Amino acid sequence: MDARVAASLLAGLVVLLHGLTAWALVEVNMEDRVEVFRGDTAQITCMFSSDDGIGGVTIQWFYVLRTGEKQKIYYEDATMKVVDRGTPFTERITVNVTAATGEVVLTITDVQVRDQLEFICLIKSLTDGVSEGRTKLLVFEKPDSPTIEGFQMGISINEDVSKIGTCEVKNGFPKPNITWYRNNAPLRRADDVIKVVPSITIESSGLFSVRSELSMKVTKEDKDALFYCEVTYLVPGGTRMIETNTINVTVYYPSTAVHVWVESPKGKIKEGDSIEFHCQGDGNMPSSTFTLKHRGVEYTMESNMYVLANVTRLNSGDYECVSLDTDTYEELSGTITVFVDYLDPAVVAPASPVEVDQGEELTATCNALSSLQTHTTWFKDGQKVSMGHTLMLKDATFDTAGTYQCVVTVPEADGMETTATFGVNVKGPPEIMRPEHTDIEESLDSTVDLTCHVRGYPAPTVIWTTPDRKVLENTFKKETDDGVTSMVSVEVTSDLTAFCNASNKYGADAVAFNVKAIVHTTAAATTARTSTISSSTVQAATAIPPKRIRKEGSGVIIAVIIICILLLAILGSVLYFLYKKGKICGRSGKQDLTKGKSSKDNIVVEMKSDNTEEAILLGVNGEKQPPRNQVDDM
Ligand SMILES: *[C@@H]1O[C@H](CO)[C@@H](O)[C@H](O)[C@H]1NC(C)=O
Ligand SMILES: *[C@@H]1O[C@H](CO)[C@@H](O)[C@H](O)[C@H]1NC(C)=O
Ligand SMILES: *[C@@H]1O[C@H](CO)[C@@H](O)[C@H](O)[C@H]1NC(C)=O
Repeated sequence: MDARVAASLLAGLVVLLHGLTAWALVEVNMEDRVEVFRGDTAQITCMFSSDDGIGGVTIQWFYVLRTGEKQKIYYEDATMKVVDRGTPFTERITVNVTAATGEVVLTITDVQVRDQLEFICLIKSLTDGVSEGRTKLLVFEKPDSPTIEGFQMGISINEDVSKIGTCEVKNGFPKPNITWYRNNAPLRRADDVIKVVPSITIESSGLFSVRSELSMKVTKEDKDALFYCEVTYLVPGGTRMIETNTINVTVYYPSTAVHVWVESPKGKIKEGDSIEFHCQGDGNMPSSTFTLKHRGVEYTMESNMYVLANVTRLNSGDYECVSLDTDTYEELSGTITVFVDYLDPAVVAPASPVEVDQGEELTATCNALSSLQTHTTWFKDGQKVSMGHTLMLKDATFDTAGTYQCVVTVPEADGMETTATFGVNVKGPPEIMRPEHTDIEESLDSTVDLTCHVRGYPAPTVIWTTPDRKVLENTFKKETDDGVTSMVSVEVTSDLTAFCNASNKYGADAVAFNVKAIVHTTAAATTARTSTISSSTVQAATAIPPKRIRKEGSGVIIAVIIICILLLAILGSVLYFLYKKGKICGRSGKQDLTKGKSSKDNIVVEMKSDNTEEAILLGVNGEKQPPRNQVDDM
């Protein structure tokens, strides 16, 4: 500002000197420029001095046309003030004169871009001559915020100069300038590598809009570069600057190395796994494709990935990933070595099953071929019996017989496991596992299951018989690891004995079951007394539970007993009567009666004294009764 004041003073001095040289006495003094924003009001001041004073001068304002001619816009003298009609300023100017200081101010409202003109203030004195001064009116408009637009597509470093982006700034005055920056350093035009093409538009308002397009040859370093524009524009008394956002560019560059790796499984690869290969170059050309090669076979990778499913040991070896740039035909490759571990099925020796004599020794081995260290464990009936691939069985007994399982695992690799079974048969005569109870009490009319577990090899033949050599049909028979299990179901219609006879070529064994049929008199007496047959047959026994006496039968039984007693009483009376009559008639009826007593329809009555409630049970039995149960006193 100081400089400008000094400049105007200097200008005034020049005018003064000029006036002096022209011998004129009117002096006019003006600033050489007035700066104002568009739309604002401009004030152009004209200072004059004349010996004639304000009454003796005429004041005129002009502006300079593009042709250089002057166009009058205002006239004033002692008698009148006239704004010229038909000029762009007719409606927008006023002039104020301050006589005391000789100051004339031209005020222009709503300044427009086209008002950027040179204005002349002309003072004519009646006696002192004429003098004029000039002021340039400079108009400014702050432009809109600039915009930047990046070129969306990626750019290959193999391409020539390519478009990076466009900046645009609108509605500024005077014309704003656009400068491109890359990472805070201005980009200067360089013919072969950087091109900046500006284009300028003058809007109907007279304002300038400027676009600038940046094109350049990108390098790999540009992939991280940030580009932006700086817009500089003038304002009254200075320069302003405004920046755009930054943009980045996608730079495609070829790889210099290719890396291939196994994404999964992590760690050991075993047969049956799926191997997921990944391949990546250190470049990013979209035109590059990856191929996986192994023993002459090519696998096309999708999304830089290939899954080889259900691998075997044959899939072991080197895998080469080849990257090919379809634009430049440059090839690069990386290699990885893969090893597929394996575990073959376990094999036992000698061939299963093996027969061994009692007291003898047996050695078995279990082997599974593997690429890794294996671990072998032998199990029998779910229990671990031995470690290591050799199984030694000393002094074989029936306990030794059974199925052995060898499990081969690989400690280094989870899930690698193989198993084999090995059967051992110990030769020997049958040996019936003695049941806990062979004397069984069972309710009358129920069914009892008798089970016989026999050890021995070859598997013994089991026959169930009764003392009178009747063969009982077995209801269940099963060969077990060390022998046979057999079961019969017998109906308890009276006391009975059943033999379980087992035999094979080495010998025979037998066990007898004595079943005592018991009768119950009251609800209290029917408390179940189901016998445990044998600990080794619990399974069979629970599968087919013994039948029990129905509790609700006791009332009916009592009624039946009473009826029977009545019938007996009647029968007794009838017999007695017949006897008496026979005696009278001389007939021998006694013999018939004794015969009938031993016949099939023998009537048995049991009396139980240990019951609180005295009750009589009546049984009708076709079989011979054990003597202790018979009350034959009728
Ligand atoms: C714009 O650039 C031109 C040429 O370099 C220069 O003369 C002018 O002063 C600049 N304008 C602004 C507003 O910086
Ligand atoms: C460009 O910038 C955006 C936003 O900052 C970012 O997400 C993107 O990754 C960048 N692209 C490149 C090529 O640097
Ligand atoms: C079954 O064994 C019993 C007792 O040893 C024997 O009395 C019976 O004769 C045997 N029965 C058969 C058919 O071998």
